[in-house]
Amino acid sequence: MSRPRIYVSREVHPSVLARLGEVGETRAWAGPDRCPADVLEKEVADVDAVLGTHRWTAALMDEAPRLRLIALTSVGFDMVDVDAATERGILVTNTPDVLTETVADLTFALILAAARQICEMDRWLRAGQWKTAGVTPMARDVHHATLGIIGLGRLGTAVAHRALAFHMKVLYYDTVHRKDLEKQFGYQFAELETLLRESDFVTLHVPLLPETKGMIGAAQLALMRPTAFLINTARGPVVDEWALIKALQEGRIAGAGLDVYEKEPVDLGNPLLKMENVVTLPHVGSATEATRRAMVDLATDNVLAVLQGKQPLTPVNPEVLSRLKKWGSVPRLSVVDRG
Ligand code: DGY
Repeated sequence: MSRPRIYVSREVHPSVLARLGEVGETRAWAGPDRCPADVLEKEVADVDAVLGTHRWTAALMDEAPRLRLIALTSVGFDMVDVDAATERGILVTNTPDVLTETVADLTFALILAAARQICEMDRWLRAGQWKTAGVTPMARDVHHATLGIIGLGRLGTAVAHRALAFHMKVLYYDTVHRKDLEKQFGYQFAELETLLRESDFVTLHVPLLPETKGMIGAAQLALMRPTAFLINTARGPVVDEWALIKALQEGRIAGAGLDVYEKEPVDLGNPLLKMENVVTLPHVGSATEATRRAMVDLATDNVLAVLQGKQPLTPVNPEVLSRLKKWGSVPRLSVVDRG
């Protein structure tokens, strides 16, 4: 039986290629960051597994007739048409847990930066205004304020734990009532409307799903306090960006801290980039050396496990597994074979 073929679509440490090379024929993108879409489209034509995060449509999967595994190097999998992958018998894996603390750190950095005007004050000082303006602009406190967390999963919980050290009151909204966390840490469940009305900082930690797309729109922003901040390190489309821009322009909320946008990379003409009270980052929640390395290592472990006929560590669509039984022994199901 021929060895499986693996395409690594992003820049990785040479040791990753060495590990993958033990189980399959490995080709890798040699440029920086990750390969562009047109390169990916060509490379996937004859491979069994791809390691990296890209937009995966049904049409792209159909360009890859041998493909059995998409090993994402991200926790989010909203860029993959998972139903189409499942229909085609393609397993998708992601990288949960290993980035939680790093993204929680960045979320808290945005809370502090937005409230204490860190970036604005940096610009203010560099523009020489310390000498000329006379009056120092006043900021808002984070300690003892109320933090509203939408989505108390792994990430939301890590952010809540940080808030405790700042003596903050933590409200959360989730479809699951976390009685354990309420009891142990005093986090309080609130309906979404209540949370929006009562929080000084609202932070989003939900995945992008049809149910969460646009969940923060004009009506929700209207409930927030004029002194409150919106923080988004989840996914841009969870927020209606034009509604947010309008709310900020009209002073209906105090500011925002954003790592994600409806369209990425964000257009330079986006009004959010012109607003002094908005802290903007280029989707770098997980971007520390150690964490990005851990994400690639977990994706590699998933590839190795699947190619060696073992259980993947973090499958997104585990229902495909029963069909994959042993690598190479089960032909990929076509859409026509399905059912
Ligand atoms: C993820 O893993 O989904 C993050 O958004 C990447 O930084």
